[in-house]
Amino acid sequence: MTNWMEVESRVFMATGRRMPVVLVRGEGTRAWDDNGKEYLDFFGGPAVHSLGHCHPVVVEAIEKQARTLIHVSNAVYSVPQLQLAEVLESNSVFDKIYFSNSGAEANEAAIKLARKWGRERKSGATDIIAMNDSFHGRTIAAVTATGTPRYSEPFAPLPGGFVHIPFDDIEALQQATTPQTCAIMVEPVQGEGGVNVPNPSYFPAVRKWCDDNNILLIADEVQTGMCRTGPLFAYQGMGFEPDVMTLAKGLGSGVPIGAILAKDSCAVFTPGDHGSTYGGNPFVCAVALAVTNYMIENDLASRVEKVGSYLQEKLAGLGGKYPLVTGCRGKGLLLAMTLSQDIADKIVLECLENGLIVNNVRPNAVRLAPPLTVENAEVDKALGIIESAVAKLS
Ligand SMILES: Cc1ncc(COP(=O)(O)O)c(C=O)c1O
Repeated sequence: MTNWMEVESRVFMATGRRMPVVLVRGEGTRAWDDNGKEYLDFFGGPAVHSLGHCHPVVVEAIEKQARTLIHVSNAVYSVPQLQLAEVLESNSVFDKIYFSNSGAEANEAAIKLARKWGRERKSGATDIIAMNDSFHGRTIAAVTATGTPRYSEPFAPLPGGFVHIPFDDIEALQQATTPQTCAIMVEPVQGEGGVNVPNPSYFPAVRKWCDDNNILLIADEVQTGMCRTGPLFAYQGMGFEPDVMTLAKGLGSGVPIGAILAKDSCAVFTPGDHGSTYGGNPFVCAVALAVTNYMIENDLASRVEKVGSYLQEKLAGLGGKYPLVTGCRGKGLLLAMTLSQDIADKIVLECLENGLIVNNVRPNAVRLAPPLTVENAEVDKALGIIESAVAKLS
């Protein structure tokens, strides 16, 4: 049998650490490795498989569109792209949409949009305030916006005009604002930064500050969007309306697509300002349209809230039994079990050994982002594996 880990070390440009598992097949919440071992996938891509692995709706849309039309450029009109734009527009507060291939590219577009808006509508203001511990992607501007300096510093010189402040701190935002500020870029719940949920008063206060100071509020919903936290978009459950929102991950449930959505008041792109060869091609848009319609028609929002509360309660409950577990934070099905020691990596490996894929999003936090379609029995099985890992390492 081929040793794929050996092949990887020989030919692949390693840019990150992998879990020691070669996945070759998936169905719903389950996936199998090259030895035929079965896993529950609560990592999900991360947070990508909104409908799980190879959901029939996704597979059917892929097959149908692959036989119809895979790619045309944005130089012609494309029906699936416009249908998807209409569905996203009618289920959100936004008026205009453009598609990309990834979350980072969607954020690049948001940064460009905000700067053009500032140049035209706010006396040339181009500074963007972003958060410590945020994650916005790996392209040069997105990684500069990302609040983890070790991701960006090796690639200096970085684009200027980004300021970082603590998340969930309205005073820091007030102090960092200058007449040069055009936008604040923020995740409703920080995903890669540790599944950090702000105080309920934070976003309404950010919104008011942005209104009072003529600043665009960009919500990076690449991870939180598409029912991941419950509502179709996280902002809908957090008491505010962004001016601009970015999406990716769960939108395609596995096919690569991202999107930038903006209100008419700041949709300042005009022909020539932006573009993408693949962005929003018929293939990915037909799949994302099927995914989005499935979520809406099957009210995945309510399901996520119910299953998410159950999972959160059970994980937090482990704290009563094992001092190693300090709690569980998150929203919907974007959760992190927090630990009293920096051994999340060990918990992850122990879970993997026992057939559950999760990841250590912080040294002391294990993230769970199962498919939104996860079944109750799968949740209980995963909880059993987590409890065994916690018991063993306590
Ligand atoms: C909030 C957020 N924004 C942007 C990105 C980058 O998305 P992509 O990897 O598709 O470029 C991620 C990826 O984890 C993310 O979580």
